[in-house]
Amino acid sequence: QTIFLKDYAEPHHWVETAHLTFKLSPRATLVVSKIAFKPNANNLGDLILNGEQLRLVSVQINGADVPYETTDTHLTIKQSDLPQEPFTFEATVEISPETNTALEGLYMSSGMYCTQCEAEGFRKITYYPDRPDVMGVFTVRVESDLPVMLSNGNPQASGDGWAEWHDPWPKPAYLFALVAGDLIAHSDHFTTIEGNHVDLNIYVRKGDEDKCAFGMGALIDSMIWDERVYGRAYDLDIFNIVAVDDFNMGAMENKGLNIFNSSCVLASPETSTDATFERVEGIIAHEYFHNWTGNRITCRDWFQLCLKEGLTVYRDQMFSGDMRSHAVKRIEEVLQLRARQFREDNGPLAHNVRPESFVEINNFYTATVYEKGAEIIGMLRRLIGDEAYYKGCNLYFDRHDGQAVTIEEWIKAFEDVTGRDLTHFKQWYSQAGTPRLSVTEDWADTTLTLTFTQTTPATPGQDVKKPQVLPIMVGLIAPNGDEVVPSTVLEMTETTQSFTFEDLTERPIASILRDFSAPVILQREMTAKTRAFLLAHDTDPFNTWEMGRMLAKDTLVAMIIDGTPPARDYLDALKSMLSDDSKDPAFRALCLALPSQDDIAQTLTDAGVTPDPMAIYEQREELRHTLATEFKDILPGLYAANDAGAFKPDAQGSGKRSLRMSVLALLTLNDGGKAAQTLFETSDNMTEQAGALTALLSAGTGQEELASFYAQWFHDRLVMDKWFMMQVASAAPLDAARIASMLTEHADFDMKNPNRFRAVFGALHGNHGGFHAPDGAAYKLLADWLIKLDPLNPQTTARMCGAFETWKRYDADRQGMIKDQLNRILATPNLSGDTTEMVTRILGA
Ligand code: ARG
Ligand code: ZN
Repeated sequence: QTIFLKDYAEPHHWVETAHLTFKLSPRATLVVSKIAFKPNANNLGDLILNGEQLRLVSVQINGADVPYETTDTHLTIKQSDLPQEPFTFEATVEISPETNTALEGLYMSSGMYCTQCEAEGFRKITYYPDRPDVMGVFTVRVESDLPVMLSNGNPQASGDGWAEWHDPWPKPAYLFALVAGDLIAHSDHFTTIEGNHVDLNIYVRKGDEDKCAFGMGALIDSMIWDERVYGRAYDLDIFNIVAVDDFNMGAMENKGLNIFNSSCVLASPETSTDATFERVEGIIAHEYFHNWTGNRITCRDWFQLCLKEGLTVYRDQMFSGDMRSHAVKRIEEVLQLRARQFREDNGPLAHNVRPESFVEINNFYTATVYEKGAEIIGMLRRLIGDEAYYKGCNLYFDRHDGQAVTIEEWIKAFEDVTGRDLTHFKQWYSQAGTPRLSVTEDWADTTLTLTFTQTTPATPGQDVKKPQVLPIMVGLIAPNGDEVVPSTVLEMTETTQSFTFEDLTERPIASILRDFSAPVILQREMTAKTRAFLLAHDTDPFNTWEMGRMLAKDTLVAMIIDGTPPARDYLDALKSMLSDDSKDPAFRALCLALPSQDDIAQTLTDAGVTPDPMAIYEQREELRHTLATEFKDILPGLYAANDAGAFKPDAQGSGKRSLRMSVLALLTLNDGGKAAQTLFETSDNMTEQAGALTALLSAGTGQEELASFYAQWFHDRLVMDKWFMMQVASAAPLDAARIASMLTEHADFDMKNPNRFRAVFGALHGNHGGFHAPDGAAYKLLADWLIKLDPLNPQTTARMCGAFETWKRYDADRQGMIKDQLNRILATPNLSGDTTEMVTRILGA
């Protein structure tokens, strides 16, 4: 059933307070609810409550029986059977957390009870108006014999076998949370800028308590940062985080009780890579920042998801940049944006940042809503400036605290502080697709004219596109390398528009789209020489990296299309960049990284060439070998010089390790694996251990090390996820499906655990050559497992269908094979609504 934004109507009833009692039991938990409702004078009508998979025991209104109707999804009480005045609704339902493998609502994970209610999971807990515009004050009583019992807000009272929690802040049901288990707390505390004392706890299972310190530090840093940068302080006496092993997504911002996928909060040097530390820091910040952008001010309806997600992603990106390096962080963001959001925007799943319809909202927790949503905030800030940006944010917080609002209200705050009409800018929320921006240059006398043209290709359901508002950051560099015009933001609003730079003494080289100032595909004809010049002289770190990336891409594309050997300009420029010790090692590592196979496939598609995944794989390998040979004389020195010493998960240490591991991957092609083997045996941290193992596996060896890695780590679930993932990710194309299939037979494979399922199948789809191997074995294997997983966990199944979203890029054989698999999935009896929606959209039917 499709739901439309245009059909939004206020509910018939508001909630004032909700009292919930949980009598926990694995297969028969009783949920007793007592909810104070108030009729909505704007929209009087029946009491309509959501409820799914509940066994209803009793219903009463104001303590008396009342006629009601139930369906699979609702409980309705006729308006004529209801009081006109506020009333109390009471119900008792029974649910079965232990058999809840969908991981939505109340479920069990490794013996603990936990919840996931966003977006529409609360309706699997009890009957309730499960929609974000209904905000109530919750009091929760938990009864069980487990030692730790948590819910939202502040602890109110507790005794033997029970605990009560009260959350004074009105909230929608999607922010409800409950946890009970035999857990250990890693505790600390924080005093807010307003002088309030806050207890901080990270709750984990026994054995994980030594992996909490880093997350706690990140939480405290986030609290300080939000006070300092956005003026937002925390608002309860306690802030709890719980680590859960079985979780569909990364983490959840439930008020005062954040629940995390354990892979996104636990970290220790021996078991976690630098990338994990960085991710933990970013996600802790993200969930914490939601307290203001999401919880205190929430969404009126799920179409507005980007209101909280885009803004909160933007905020966590700024935080990570402040904690580490803005330049490196921006490059990483753009890599992600291109890999996930551009891929989505240029295929059958393209949708608006604010969608206008959906069947299953869980299918819209996408790179477009999150990452493109964040890019929109960044563009807004660039257009109006820092001062107006923070003024607008403050106005938004003041005006809408305690409300459930829309994108209109967000934009209005900025119109009010700037006096600008942002109607055109707002189109970013309602037009899907990635704009192509082309540019031509004219030089006459002393004037440089840049003429830009933008076009956005059609996306499903949107044939006609209008020009977007694009902030284009530009700087000009003189031929001697001096910057003659520093960064300036051009505001483009038309399809074609020219901008002039006057009084220049000689023709400069333009650096365009600095800092990736708008989420567009820049199409600019440039010689390798000009790219190499900007690579050496641009003052903008993003564009410096981008020039190297373009050189690498051009090189690869030429190798693939007509066997042109790797371009000298590229090899020389990269070599001198690598040897420049004044440059940040993290930045050099990013320059050394080659474009992914998927990225090259998309580049070829854009150039009108049907990508051949085998040729992409082979030529990329060929280029890796060329780099290894060309850089033979500098690799050992770089490897030695970037030993970071004792492990510290900070920007400096991780930057060095990142360069060192990229160097090691090439070195392994030269030295038969000697350096990697030594590092594997002697290193005390996972970054190097996994880096060494990956280098060996990617060079076609490392089987002994793989076995000893297993022997060392078989007891650690999160490290074992890496063990599964690495084998599939670094398999050669013709081996990938076989290895993935073999791993599903391993005793430690558990399809019910999303992390483990993704370790194997996320890696299979991420292995471009392997996924698209000519025999279609990987397509079939993934489809087999999606069909198996769907009845257990529709949400994770539906997400993984995205592996097929690029199918139209490839040749007729591959298209045919993928189409067959998609149709086979679709024909599965009782296929979930989640997966049906995704497959249908991917097929474009
Ligand atoms: N709001 C969470 C976050 O961004 C994501 C939870 C989404 N969960 C889901 N089942 N759709 O941090
Ligand atoms: Zn979020």
